[in-house]
Amino acid sequence: MTTRTTPFPEGFLWGASTAAHQIEGNNVNSDWWRKEHDPAAGIQEPSLDACDSYHRWEQDMDLLADLGFTDYRFSVEWARIEPARGHFSQAEIAHYRRMVDGALARGLRPMVTLHHFTVPRWFEDFGGWTADGAVELFARYVEECAPIIAEGVRHVCTINEPNMIAVMAGLAKSGDQGFPPAGLPTPDEETTHAIIAAHHAAVKAVKGINPDIQVGWTIANQVYQALPGAKDITAAYRHPREDVFIEAARGDDWLGVQSYTRTKIGSEGPVTAPAEAERTLTQWEYYPTAVGHALRHTADFAGPGMPLIVTENGIATADDTRRVAYYTGALAAVAACIEDGLNVQGYLAWSALDNYEWGSFAPTFGLIAVNPVTFERTAKPSAVWLGAMGNTRALPHA
Ligand code: BGC
Repeated sequence: MTTRTTPFPEGFLWGASTAAHQIEGNNVNSDWWRKEHDPAAGIQEPSLDACDSYHRWEQDMDLLADLGFTDYRFSVEWARIEPARGHFSQAEIAHYRRMVDGALARGLRPMVTLHHFTVPRWFEDFGGWTADGAVELFARYVEECAPIIAEGVRHVCTINEPNMIAVMAGLAKSGDQGFPPAGLPTPDEETTHAIIAAHHAAVKAVKGINPDIQVGWTIANQVYQALPGAKDITAAYRHPREDVFIEAARGDDWLGVQSYTRTKIGSEGPVTAPAEAERTLTQWEYYPTAVGHALRHTADFAGPGMPLIVTENGIATADDTRRVAYYTGALAAVAACIEDGLNVQGYLAWSALDNYEWGSFAPTFGLIAVNPVTFERTAKPSAVWLGAMGNTRALPHA
């Protein structure tokens, strides 16, 4: 494979992302754990031990650092830190602080997500995001995370994919407990407002902890593409599902872009990809350049100069050569954005590990395979290939 000079600027983040519930295991105080064990919710399989990363995070970080990555995005779990309302576990706070220190000791810059989909059971019982006082409860939790993030953490993400949270809230109202299908049903408006308020309160709380921390949030981008006859897709799709959350980030230090595939919209709404289209294990269309479209759309709405970080991008596949091909196409698209003047400051692949994909372990997004019984980790060729670019920052040719 030939290489050319790097398009990635000095200090560019090069890493992989994970989320606590998807890798830690036994997140028993969370709403998702409860849902996974409720037959009425119809979840395919429960997370149980997941990747046992709660105990094996050092192995995960050793591997990522040895592979050549310089950045690791992981989340801290509200349900562990505040297992009962108003009771904060100093042991869990110390656990996550050890993770931050462990990352720094290995030369990995930690990006800490404060909320990645799961909430404590008590918060769900209290009424969730739209209940009176929810925003204040979230802000108090963020303040209690001070010992974790006050020193040595440059990037903090308040809330992962607020747009997916609003969509899931909409689904739940219609009796569906699952993870949203591609195309995304309509987000719940009340949740949208509440989650934006929670973000703004969290940004303030993080700045109060240390004003130098770079705070942002990460938005799922569906790359809506209009087919002939489609109605105004900005009003119907982009605005409620993406733009409203991008606009809410104006004034933040950075904005996370998360992208996997595209969604074509015809006159009757989302159109599934043709039968001959290549699909991934999530049944999404294989479309590596999605991330370029997502970055450009986000840059347009966030306003000039907003630093963008690709905080998730990847493919669920059992064929690791397709993962390398996907990342090759995706990185070329990211590089083209940078060449066109977009302020892209990092690229974090989803995901470091094969993990619990919100209902099932079957869609394997990982750069690193995990044995479900022994939890032994094995870096896939794609991990070796992508990690090595952490040193060279040279772009592979497609
Ligand atoms: C989420 C991850 C998820 C991934 C693939 C994003 O929606 O942040 O938690 O595993 O996409 O579905």
